[in-house]
Amino acid sequence: MANLVIQGPSRLNGALSVHGAKNSTLPLMAATLLCDGECVLHNCPQLSDVDASTRILRHLGCKVIREGSTVTVDARNAQYWDIPDALMREMRSSIVFLGAIINRMHKATLSFPGGCELGPRPIDLHLQALRKMGVLIEEDHGCLSCSVPEHLKGASIGLSFPSVGATENILLAAVCAEGITVVSNAAREPEICDLADFLNACGAKIHGVGDSTIIIEGVRHLSGCEHRVIPDRIAAATYLSAAAVTGGDIELKDVVPAHLLPVLPVFEESGCEVSVDQNRIRLKAPDRLSRVKSIRTMPYPGFPTDAQAPIMTMTCLAKGTSIFVENIFESRYKHVGELLRLGANIKVEGRVAIVEGVERLSGAPVEAADLRGGAALVVAGLAAGGITRVGGIHHIDRGYENIEDSFKTLGAEIKRI
Ligand code: UD1
Repeated sequence: MANLVIQGPSRLNGALSVHGAKNSTLPLMAATLLCDGECVLHNCPQLSDVDASTRILRHLGCKVIREGSTVTVDARNAQYWDIPDALMREMRSSIVFLGAIINRMHKATLSFPGGCELGPRPIDLHLQALRKMGVLIEEDHGCLSCSVPEHLKGASIGLSFPSVGATENILLAAVCAEGITVVSNAAREPEICDLADFLNACGAKIHGVGDSTIIIEGVRHLSGCEHRVIPDRIAAATYLSAAAVTGGDIELKDVVPAHLLPVLPVFEESGCEVSVDQNRIRLKAPDRLSRVKSIRTMPYPGFPTDAQAPIMTMTCLAKGTSIFVENIFESRYKHVGELLRLGANIKVEGRVAIVEGVERLSGAPVEAADLRGGAALVVAGLAAGGITRVGGIHHIDRGYENIEDSFKTLGAEIKRI
C-alpha cells in the first residue's frame, strides 16, 4: 500500500492550477446516459471516483473514451440498467446514476449504498422523490429494484433537507418526465448549477437553479453537447489552507472565486491577505495565524462540510481557540485522532470540536480514514516539523489529482512511496 511521505515544515509558494470538480464530474457523467448524441466533458479530473463512473457507464453499454482531461461518452447503445454491487461499494456516490438509469431505461437495479466512513448515508429523500414521480421501488436484502409502470411524471417535491445527491437525482429523472417538476428546498451547490447548465445545453428546460426552488419542464429528448466541468472548490480550499498553515504565499489559477465565498472570509479572519481576480485567488499568510471564532458547516451557500477538515488543520497552529460545529455528517471528525498524534490539541464532543492552537506540530505516521480528512493530514504534514507518513491514501486519490505533484509545484517535499 502506498504512503505519502512528507518532510516538513515547508512554506508553500508559487502558482497552481486547480483541477475540475469531482462532485460535478460524477453527476455529469451520469447525465450523459440521457443524451442521444456524443457528449464531450472537458476538465474532468483524473481520480479513482471518475474511473469508477467510467466503469459504470461502460457496464451500462456506453462507449467512453478519455483523452487527457476530456471524457467523451456515447450512450446511444446503452442497454443495461443495473449497477453491480462491487461498483456501488467502491463509490457511494454511484447512487447519482439512479435517476439517470430510471429515466433512460424505465427500470434500475442496484444495491443499497449503505453506510460509509462519514456515518450512515441514507437515501430516503432520493427514493421518496422518485416514488412521487411514479417509480415503484422494492427494497429487498440490500437490493433496490426500481421500475416505472407507465411514464415518469412531473411532481411537486419538497425536500426536508437540501440534499445534494437527491436534488441531482431528481434533476436527472425529471428532465424527460411528463409534465412539470417543482423541487422546493433544493440544494444550491455550484455543482447542481453545473449539472443543470449541461442538461440545458442538451435541450433540457430547467429554471431557478441556484435558488431553493427549481422548476423542470420535461422534454422529449436530449442531444449531446460539449461542456467544461467547473473547478474544484474543495481542492482549492485545501490548497489555500495548506498555504495558510505553512505561512505561504500562493496563487490559485482556474478557480471560480464566487464558489469559495463561504470559505474565503475564514482565511481573512485568520489573518491571511486574500485577493481575487476573475479566475484567480492569491493568499498570503502571516507568520502566525489567528484563531477562527466559530465555523458551522451548512448547505451552500454556508461553509462546506468538505472543507471542515483541511481548515481545522489550519486552526491547529493558530493563536487561540477555534470552534467547529459539524451540522451535515454525523461522523466527520475521524482526522482528529490523527491530528492529535502530530501534536494538535483538539477536543470533540458530539458535533462540536474545540481546537486550542499550538505552537508547532511534529511529524508522525498517520492514517487517512476518509477523503477530506486524509487531505487534512497531508496539509498538517506540510506544516509539521520532521517526517509525516500518511497511509490510507486511496481515500485521498478519490478527490485530489496527484496531490503530491500539486504540493511539489508549490515547493513542498512530498513523495509517494
Ligand atoms: C454531496 C457531496 C459530498 C458533500 C455533501 C454535502 C458528491 C459526490 N458528494 O454528498 O462531498 O460532503 O454533498 O455537501 O457530490 N441525507 C438524508 N437522506 C437522503 C440524503 C441525504 O438524510 O436521502 C442526509 C445525509 O445523511 C447528510 C445530509 O443529508 O447528513 C447531506 O447529504 P447530501 O447533501 O445528500 O450529500 P451527498 O449528496 O451524499
